[in-house]
Amino acid sequence: QVGTPYFYVDEELIRKMLLPRPRFGHKGCFGHALLVCGSEGMVGAAVLAAGAALRSGCGLVTVHLPREERVALQANHPAAMVSGDEQPCFSHLPQQPQRFTAIGVGPGLGQRLQTARALEALLQCGRPMVIDADALNLLAADPGLQELVPAGSILTPHPGELRRLVGEWEDDADRNERVRQLARRLSAYVVVKGAHTMVCTPEGICYFNPTGNAGMAKGGSGDVLTGLITGLLARGYPPLPAALVGVYLHGKAGDKATQYYGQEGVNAGDLADFIGETWAEWE
Ligand code: APR
Ligand code: MG
Repeated sequence: QVGTPYFYVDEELIRKMLLPRPRFGHKGCFGHALLVCGSEGMVGAAVLAAGAALRSGCGLVTVHLPREERVALQANHPAAMVSGDEQPCFSHLPQQPQRFTAIGVGPGLGQRLQTARALEALLQCGRPMVIDADALNLLAADPGLQELVPAGSILTPHPGELRRLVGEWEDDADRNERVRQLARRLSAYVVVKGAHTMVCTPEGICYFNPTGNAGMAKGGSGDVLTGLITGLLARGYPPLPAALVGVYLHGKAGDKATQYYGQEGVNAGDLADFIGETWAEWE
């Protein structure tokens, strides 16, 4: 496809991007992911994202969420660490945010004013970021916040979130052009989710993903993707490989889970475990 800025991803391309895991590596070598997810009554988003980050290969995972919700996270994922927010939503930064090698923010956050202020501070931590869900909605509502998005960030909108960011489009070509402009303006990678998720680089090159199925069209699947890409970014993958490998693995996990449960029966909580099946095939 020389001359066109569109590429179709295949497993060969993905496998070429995989990082080795040094024999004598210790957890400090593999990065520390921070997930800022969940609010009162929406802690499931944090649980799903953490489960995926814990299957990404990164060394440590910390989840920042309301203190009162921490038991749900720790009961489901004892390997994750918790940073407790005093408020029922994201309202202040975790201690020493510079210690994290990547930050994922957005799933289940809500859109309270204090969360918008905390997001403003988080964007200025100078860490590589994955920005999803309500963090995208907050960005769409405040163009001033968009200017703070660190270069090289990964945005993961579903079509509704994308519409809030770039306005209504006429057709696929118009949508892709608007995505390109967004990616260029923010110097960010934009992952447009859906069947055949598209990953657009700041230079306007677009990659289409072959994996995944309509069984994944259920609440929570997107939260799993955010956790997985954040973990890969923390693990040391540059943003484009983190986005491409994450989207591919997430879809493949959905395909494997669907072999067990069917497209009707599969749910987001099944996906993380099947991420491990693909890693096992690849090692
Ligand atoms: N084929 C393949 N993959 C699909 C399909 C399909 N037909 N439909 C959806 N998916 C995948 C998408 O590619 C994406 O990775 O499932 C995931 C869905 O992600 P979201 O749309 O973000 O949905 P999710 O986050 O699970 O649920 C809604 O998102 O708007 C936010 O926080 C808000 O709670 C809400 C949540
Ligand atoms: Mg979502």
